[in-house]
Amino acid sequence: MTGELRERARFRRLEEASAQDWQLMEAAERRARERWPGEGLLKLLAAFEHADACGAPINVYQHCLQTATRVLEAGSDDELVVLALFHDVTECFSDAHHGELAAQLLGPWLSAPRRWLLERHVEFQALHFANHPRRDRHEREQFRGHPLFEQTAQFCERFDQCSFDADYPTLALAEFEPIVRRFFAPQRTLSSTGASPSSSKR
Ligand SMILES: [Fe+2]
Ligand SMILES: [Fe+2]
Repeated sequence: MTGELRERARFRRLEEASAQDWQLMEAAERRARERWPGEGLLKLLAAFEHADACGAPINVYQHCLQTATRVLEAGSDDELVVLALFHDVTECFSDAHHGELAAQLLGPWLSAPRRWLLERHVEFQALHFANHPRRDRHEREQFRGHPLFEQTAQFCERFDQCSFDADYPTLALAEFEPIVRRFFAPQRTLSSTGASPSSSKR
């Protein structure tokens, strides 16, 4: 039976909810938690499969897949693969804040160093904007001396800036689903209670 066909509470205002309503909803939520949040993120990325590339060689969906493919092929851990897979999805609905938004989106499930890398990859990526008419390619210099400087620079150089190749043998989104599930599975209980699992990881 699909979620749409399951029994639903019938209140119109929270003030009208009965104890049975809460029981019904909590049981349904427990079932749904088996799929969250990985499934939601996969659906979010999949929604942009045919997004406008805005003149770039490939669109953000393909760029995310390619970046994650390179990270996976380098033998990196699941966290970095997941980070790479969703690192630019927020470009599809933001202007100049996609690093910050991506870090907010994935942050509760990332370690502190990886969250920093995700948020700051934007400034580090600027180094590779060859012949850009206005972009300051040295934005990352404000972070020179930071313990994650080299790690973030490497992510951009090895995986991100090179992932605009329309001919690269990029893996399909389905190839990443087991990794996404594996990454989120141990964390789902904590994350769905409202407690931040990241607090135990930082
Ligand atoms: Fe980016
Ligand atoms: Fe990127």
